[in-house]
Amino acid sequence: MTTQTKLKLDTPFKKEVYEGLTAFPKYLSSKYFYDKAGDKLFQDIMAMPEYYLTDCEFEILETHTQPIAEYFRGKENGFDLIELGAGDGKKTKIVLKYLSEQNFNFIYKPIDISQNAIDSLSEKLKDELPNVTVDPEKGEYFEVLERLKSYNTRKKVIIVLGSNIGNLMHPRAIDFLSKLKDTMQEDDMLFMGFDQKKNPETILNAYNDKAGITEAFNKNILIRINHELQADFDIDKFIHWETYNPETGTAKSFLVAEKEMKVTIKELDLTINFKPWETIHTEISQKYTDSVVDWLANEAGLKINTSFTDKKGYYKNYVFQRKNV
Ligand code: AVJ
Repeated sequence: MTTQTKLKLDTPFKKEVYEGLTAFPKYLSSKYFYDKAGDKLFQDIMAMPEYYLTDCEFEILETHTQPIAEYFRGKENGFDLIELGAGDGKKTKIVLKYLSEQNFNFIYKPIDISQNAIDSLSEKLKDELPNVTVDPEKGEYFEVLERLKSYNTRKKVIIVLGSNIGNLMHPRAIDFLSKLKDTMQEDDMLFMGFDQKKNPETILNAYNDKAGITEAFNKNILIRINHELQADFDIDKFIHWETYNPETGTAKSFLVAEKEMKVTIKELDLTINFKPWETIHTEISQKYTDSVVDWLANEAGLKINTSFTDKKGYYKNYVFQRKNV
């Protein structure tokens, strides 16, 4: 008789890594890209010329600051500005600066899954925009949704920038939007960025830079498993591979095993085998059209109020409100 050692999948990270790497085909969640090294790599990605998303959204916020701020403006009580996935807050700062200079009555609540990102953002804001009240929180999107409901004493504006919603396939995106809607009252607003369909080559290049920054970002998830779960992934034996399907608008990232390999993950008491050219799917980055965004919103009980775009029309920020039923 064998005694089975009781395996403790006592964190979401352990549980999800176990599930993903014992599944077929193998997968890992891109939300685990973002540790300290991953945050830094993502900042490097945002600074790459190929990664047009950041520049486009920056342009949109800069060109349309005033009308955007007017959409945010609450009645006599002001408003709570809640940002999901705030990251380094570089883009949000354009709006915060304007709101602060124009003496809008508001507080800023940045939320991010990276404690590291939240800490450095709070530090920077204290310095650069001392008049803005900042109330940061660490957490995952779906975790913090419940708590958002308590922000109901005055107008609430929820912002999600960077096309972060693109990490969710449509059914989960609808679920997410619908849960956001559940936290919203009639006058509350949702301001969200959606990367648009465009020349497939432009999209592929954004996720497949020659310098290898996106490759390092994608592989960081294996490095993280090596460090945090005592695994022995041979990182160099995996290839970063990006695909874009111009029909569905879905960009997908993979890590592809170059040869047969055995990987041991001590903390999970697990050995996994890779056949030559076996894949780990790590991320999706969905691209949208107006009609898809309209459909998602409608399914979630929201309606598009207006949208803002950049000169090239690469990217759009939409303002949503609850649909009146
Ligand atoms: C932060 C999820 C919007 O999917 O474009 C950048 C992450 N991945 N390069 C994206 C990412 C590879 C990014 N999001």
